[in-house]
Amino acid sequence: MYKYKGFMLDSARHMQPIDEIKKLIDAISELGFNKFHWHLTDDQGWRFECEKYPMLNTDAAERPYSDFGKVYDNKPYGRVYTKEEMREVVSYCAEKGIDVVPEFDMPGHTSALLSVMPELCCKKKDVKIKTHQGIYNDVLCPAKSNIYEILFNIIDEFCEIFPSEYFHIGGDETPSKHWESCPDCRKKMKELGITDFAEYQNHFMNRIIDYLEKKGRHVIVWNDAARGKNLDKRAIIQYWKENDKASIEYINSGGMAILSPFSYYYFDYDYMITPLNRTYSFSPELKGLTQSGKKNIIGLEAPVWTEYINSSSRLEKLLFPRLIAVSFTLNGKGNMKYKDFLKEIENIRKKLDFVEFEDNKKWTSSRMKTPLGWLKFVKTNYSYEYIKSATNQE
Ligand code: ACM
Ligand code: ZN
Repeated sequence: MYKYKGFMLDSARHMQPIDEIKKLIDAISELGFNKFHWHLTDDQGWRFECEKYPMLNTDAAERPYSDFGKVYDNKPYGRVYTKEEMREVVSYCAEKGIDVVPEFDMPGHTSALLSVMPELCCKKKDVKIKTHQGIYNDVLCPAKSNIYEILFNIIDEFCEIFPSEYFHIGGDETPSKHWESCPDCRKKMKELGITDFAEYQNHFMNRIIDYLEKKGRHVIVWNDAARGKNLDKRAIIQYWKENDKASIEYINSGGMAILSPFSYYYFDYDYMITPLNRTYSFSPELKGLTQSGKKNIIGLEAPVWTEYINSSSRLEKLLFPRLIAVSFTLNGKGNMKYKDFLKEIENIRKKLDFVEFEDNKKWTSSRMKTPLGWLKFVKTNYSYEYIKSATNQE
């Protein structure tokens, strides 16, 4: 039914041992998924071993401490996955018919990279790898003369390790604050005749997309990039921001999409916020899609972000049984009555006895309880000191 049946794991905020990743691969393979989207770069850590720029393997990979509210650890954290480890994951997945779709997130979410390559910032400044959750103003400067050469070199190394036809280049949550006052960016925008920062971002994205397309890869970007009207139509948008008119227009006018609506499919949220019944209720028929637009939905993907997830047990409980709900929708079984679906879970669970499931008393909840879920989430994950410092971040 769908060509792209995906699960995304964030290994930047917290890493998972290779054996844990293999266990998750076993589980998603059992459920019929065929894409493992591996989020390997972010503000809080760089995880891709790079030969050409070895400082990425040390300083960009290790943050001095972790402060995700209650998930707090006063010790240095992080390393890259070695090429050997990444190859092992790729071949393990290949045996199970799963492609690994790597993500190198840019031009935002690049503090770890910029901490070792400050020449790629608008203002050469002392960018720090981040220790908190957030959306940061430290983003790549698309106007720097050697930026594409460096990025293409890194991308080449990614492509050597990951043979998948798909490659994810992020494009989410990119503040334009530094671009606005950067003389190089201003000059570049003038040359290009661009006045809009979303279009300026896409001018950058399009260069990367073109490079990857010429290497035979299809590029995925988060749907933040659909805001700029000039996004290269070859890009596949990943629809996480819901009710987004620009994305609907993009899809209706021929752009492809993968759906990951955050209020149904983001599994870092607790069950009280995103209960199993909500995940199961997601219908891929987005409002506003035309008949031809509907044909441009190539798949669904469930992401999990890991700022607040630093153990395999917590990770697995957040994923199971919710990934079963996604697999039903992916495989055309999403219209079953919820109570019948619950019965089906019991059979499937027997095949997934190697992963932990959330306690079944917590699976189902009403929409009325969502605010209570948020309160609990904030209480569990944030400390007062964290909120105070996180709201003052650069
Ligand atoms: C995202 O959740 N920032 C893609
Ligand atoms: Zn700049």
